[in-house]
Amino acid sequence: MKTSFRTDYCATFNERNEGDSITISGWCSSIRDHGGVIFIDLRDKSGIIQIVSDPKNSSEVHKIIETVRNEFVIQISGIVRLRTDNTINKNIDTGKIEVLINTAEVLNLSVPLPFQIEEEINADENIRLKYRYLDLRRPNINSNFVLKSKVMMIARNFFDKYGFIDIETPYLTKSSPEGARDYLVPSRIHQNSFFALPQSPQILKQILMTSGFDRYYQIVRCFRDEDLRADRQPEFTQIDLEMSFVDENDVISIVEKLLKKIFKETKDIDLSPEFKRISYSESMEKYGNDRPDLRFSLELQTITDIFKNTEFKVFRDVVNSKGIIKCIKVEDSNLTRKNIDDLTLFAQEHGAKGLAWIKVLESELQSPILKFFSEEEIVLLKDQLQFNTGDIIFFGAGNEDNVNNYMSAVRNKLGKDLNLISENSFEFVWITDFPLFLKVDGNLTSTHHPFTMPKDERIDESEIEALSSKAYDIVLNGTEIGGGSIRIHKKELQEKIFNILGIKKEEYEDNFGYLLNALESGTPPHGGLAIGLDRLMMYLTDSPSIRDIIAFPKTQKASCLLTEAPSKVFSEKQLEELGIELIDKDES
Ligand code: AMO
Ligand code: AMP
Repeated sequence: MKTSFRTDYCATFNERNEGDSITISGWCSSIRDHGGVIFIDLRDKSGIIQIVSDPKNSSEVHKIIETVRNEFVIQISGIVRLRTDNTINKNIDTGKIEVLINTAEVLNLSVPLPFQIEEEINADENIRLKYRYLDLRRPNINSNFVLKSKVMMIARNFFDKYGFIDIETPYLTKSSPEGARDYLVPSRIHQNSFFALPQSPQILKQILMTSGFDRYYQIVRCFRDEDLRADRQPEFTQIDLEMSFVDENDVISIVEKLLKKIFKETKDIDLSPEFKRISYSESMEKYGNDRPDLRFSLELQTITDIFKNTEFKVFRDVVNSKGIIKCIKVEDSNLTRKNIDDLTLFAQEHGAKGLAWIKVLESELQSPILKFFSEEEIVLLKDQLQFNTGDIIFFGAGNEDNVNNYMSAVRNKLGKDLNLISENSFEFVWITDFPLFLKVDGNLTSTHHPFTMPKDERIDESEIEALSSKAYDIVLNGTEIGGGSIRIHKKELQEKIFNILGIKKEEYEDNFGYLLNALESGTPPHGGLAIGLDRLMMYLTDSPSIRDIIAFPKTQKASCLLTEAPSKVFSEKQLEELGIELIDKDES
């Protein structure tokens, strides 16, 4: 695109421009002095083009070019010419041409940089984050943001087409719990009072349904003070939506359409017409977690019943203490003893006490624990597992959560180690029928959030943990990329849920009174979902870390190395105005 600094972007020129007089601007890289003639790769957002300074052409211009160093910003004018056959660079679009410089101006200098601006660098991530502006200059990181912008545009067009309205909800607001801690913002005008940054727009988007907007969406920042991982940031972006007069299938269907459109338009991939759906309980049973990686078919099996009278002490103790025994059969495995030992160690790191195993050889079974098994147990095992020569079976015994936790990790590791995962495959699956409540450390909590509609509105309080909900998560290749539900739209039911969760009336009226008021003022049945945009982008860009698709991310320790936030306040006066006195935690 033409501006006063350029005729067009660097990489838009080609051999058809031979003889053209052009002006281009950009950053200098790969500066080579070949006995007086200087070659530079000039780079802008479109790519690079080779520019050449020849003292015979203009000694004055050449003097300017001689001062140029890596990453200087320059503007040049010159003539496009064809390269000689032996200097053609097939790796770049402009590889057949170069520009002979006629005029040059240095627009800005650059100090020597801590790392080169190249696709592959081995700079420490902390250095990359401190100098994020340089890191973002690297074409492969830069392109992540081009794609992210495109995905947001696809989503906006999609929502517009389907009658959704983009409505902003505030960032300075009241707590909207999604299971993490809130980031709090003190109020100067209301001393001792705090805003909470939203963990999601959940409550306010529901209230927009009360207002009759019917279909809402927002590409919105969410804030959660929680332990960080490769796919978690303290602030991240959701593609958030809410719809009135819908059931689970309506929401699921619109989200599938959106995801299909995004994959088609960004990767030219046709996702399957209908995504798989499995219930939470089936997912826990077969995969040990609620975000199964379905790119490979290994499944866990529960075999507790087979061992209810076993002589094997490890299993007997587990059965007696109401635990479970699960196993996973790996067919045709060439796993060595070392592989098995490594896998056992891995399972132990994930909470296992051990990882018993049986190898199926041609004429016998081989296992250190075989001697403890009865004939009948072996027959029942064979019946259930249908094992064959070459198979190996791993066993996990313990309490249910623990076994599911490490056996699902073992399953995922086997999938990777045995190369069972086909490259470039995108396996979406809906997990449905989540339990309404879960016990975490002995305390009852909502599996999603407390606004989730139970499957049956007539709540049977004698079977609280068996109640299921109208919640659904969308999982891609083993990662939860979105979650949602049909919501409670009646005040009485919402209050009942708060009560069951042990939240006192005073407390829920203080925190959620405004929602309860809305629910008793004609709130329609409604539901929705939010996709984690950053997580989705990790898949679309094949990035191992969520930090690669957030322009200015936080470290694992939730700080920004570029701005050095969080930091001390500018002046004591700010704290004074807020009525805040700092205490030194170490001394208190
Ligand atoms: P939920 O808490 O499941 O649901 O969040 C929806 C999606 O947001 C993404 N996500 C994150 N991404 C990066 N860093 C984080 N710390 C992080 N936390 C969550 C995940 C997740 O699936 N209000 C509900 C949605 C609804 O019910 O409509 C909500 O926020 O991909
Ligand atoms: P031990 O009696 O502890 O030596 O264990 C005998 C075998 O059972 C070893 O192969 C252990 O790895 C395995 N094992 C021990 N505890 C468990 C468990 N909780 N689940 C599965 N295997 C186990």
